[in-house]
Amino acid sequence: MTSLTAPVPPVPSDVPAGSVAWLRASVARFSNGSDHVRRRSLSVDLLADVDAYSLRDKAFARTAQLADELDAFDVMAVIARPVPVGILAEALGLPDVSADVALVAAAYHPHVTPDADAEAALGRLIAVCGGTTELAAARIGLLIQACDATAGLIGNALSASLAGNPGELLAEPPVLCTRRRIDGEDVTVSLAGMPFGAGPRECPGSAQAIALATGVLQALRGFRLTEAETTWVSSPNLRMPAVLRVTRG
Ligand code: HEM
Repeated sequence: MTSLTAPVPPVPSDVPAGSVAWLRASVARFSNGSDHVRRRSLSVDLLADVDAYSLRDKAFARTAQLADELDAFDVMAVIARPVPVGILAEALGLPDVSADVALVAAAYHPHVTPDADAEAALGRLIAVCGGTTELAAARIGLLIQACDATAGLIGNALSASLAGNPGELLAEPPVLCTRRRIDGEDVTVSLAGMPFGAGPRECPGSAQAIALATGVLQALRGFRLTEAETTWVSSPNLRMPAVLRVTRG
């Protein structure tokens, strides 16, 4: 916990407006000091207007509808990635931008070099979110932060329960570690026992994430895995299925 109060590794600020580098330089996630406090409060205020019960109900309804239309499908691609982000976007007054959010999410972290598809997707997100302002960056940041982590929450809980090990929603958290700058060095900090982090950067979307995951998982009761082996995302900081094929009971 002490190390989580250290600053995050800073990102460059002299970057082209509207680029993925601009997004990193404008969101709470990669900011420190008063920038972090101000940007985080933008995110918290946006989430304060989002009703968690309504997110859960909408996630249930949309998942049930999609699952009805399909016989056998990959839950990660068809539901766990697009549904929570689409519903959160709608609750923030935006269109369903889940496909563009997924493209930008893959290029969000500073060690990734964004490709042209990610830059183009961010351009479209900026256009619907209000231009290159801090508030627009906060909206986009919420959707990006929700993307992989909520898909992971859903995928891990579903994979465990379909393998015959139902447990708590957070029994296998998707976000394993984060980064901080300590004594001039960028270090990896474990999040063991803290699925939503802790301290001044603790996830402000935990209630919304749990509501979305609960709705999705309720709608997938009665499904079963079609493959014995689950393939996992290969990432040092995320644990979640890459593909999870299911069919109705
Ligand atoms: C509706 C879905 C979600 C939203 C809107 C959301 C939003 C955010 C935001 C804006 C931050 C940055 C906070 C800051 O830097 O002050 C954050 C951090 C974080 N989120 Fe979430 N999040 C969501 C889902 C999740 C899920 C499902 C998990 C894992 C179970 C998760 C784990 C974390 C962690 C561990 C951090 C802190 C990272 C650090 O300390 O470096 N989030 N989230």
